[in-house]
Amino acid sequence: MQDVAFLNGAFVPLAEAKVSIEDRGFQFGDGIYEVIRTYKGRPFAIEAHLARLERSATALDLTQPYSRAEWTRYVLEGIRRAAYPEAKIYIQLTRGVAPRDHAYPADVTPTVVITVREFHPLDSSVQVAGVEAMTIEDIRWGRCDIKSVNLLANVLARQQAKQAQVFETILVKAGSVTEGAVSNVMVVQGGTVVTAPEGSRILSGVTRAVVLDLALSEGLPVQERFVSQADLYDADEVFLTGTTVEVLAVVRVDGKIIGDGRPGPITQRLAADFTSRVG
Ligand code: PDD
Repeated sequence: MQDVAFLNGAFVPLAEAKVSIEDRGFQFGDGIYEVIRTYKGRPFAIEAHLARLERSATALDLTQPYSRAEWTRYVLEGIRRAAYPEAKIYIQLTRGVAPRDHAYPADVTPTVVITVREFHPLDSSVQVAGVEAMTIEDIRWGRCDIKSVNLLANVLARQQAKQAQVFETILVKAGSVTEGAVSNVMVVQGGTVVTAPEGSRILSGVTRAVVLDLALSEGLPVQERFVSQADLYDADEVFLTGTTVEVLAVVRVDGKIIGDGRPGPITQRLAADFTSRVG
């Protein structure tokens, strides 16, 4: 078992995978990424992740170096070489190496990185107890639907969560809850599952789509609309969705107890459905 890196067409030891200081990913954050995890050794929802990668690339006019079939082949080969029980696959595509200038040359070759590392799931006690979150102002740019490596606002948000010893920061833009720093946010109001609509304010999570589908299969009403910070505090249940968090109950926000302070019944049901879906 070992960490694996893939750089511009070849598998190399992770420590030897080096990129030029003139890479535009390094200089401008001019790139995109995806994070995929395996269940029983198989990448979960790889098609949806690769579709989003293509969408992000198109939005930024990035050259797509590989077809979906080629990406899949490299990811599967990386998983095979790493041989971890469960793996976290990181894909990064930057515009490439060019002398520093904000505008980019037409003929620049994209830099492609894939890493495969061991995935450590959250402790089941965390899933059972739920987590605490804090809200902060969403200071990100106007295209949060693009999964860009420009993550400075998310980095600062996560650092604030770490310092406050809470699990996640929930971002609030002009009074509306957008999403978490590394997750989507859903609330339950009177049996209805409510989450921010797709659009430029949020990253449309692969897990979000799966969970909304599960909610509909359960016969639960779903509404894609913004909720206010006050609605968040008053919600019957709050939970996060994401590749790394799956379906995770939030039981306290800004020190205020959500519901009865334990993961609610709908969150628990969707978490169980999600486990069956991925298994
Ligand atoms: N982040 N919103 C944001 C801002 C995210 O960064 C993520 C995931 C999600 C959930 O998306 P998905 O369900 O497709 O994982 C929502 C990854 C895991 C990361 O940056 O590490």
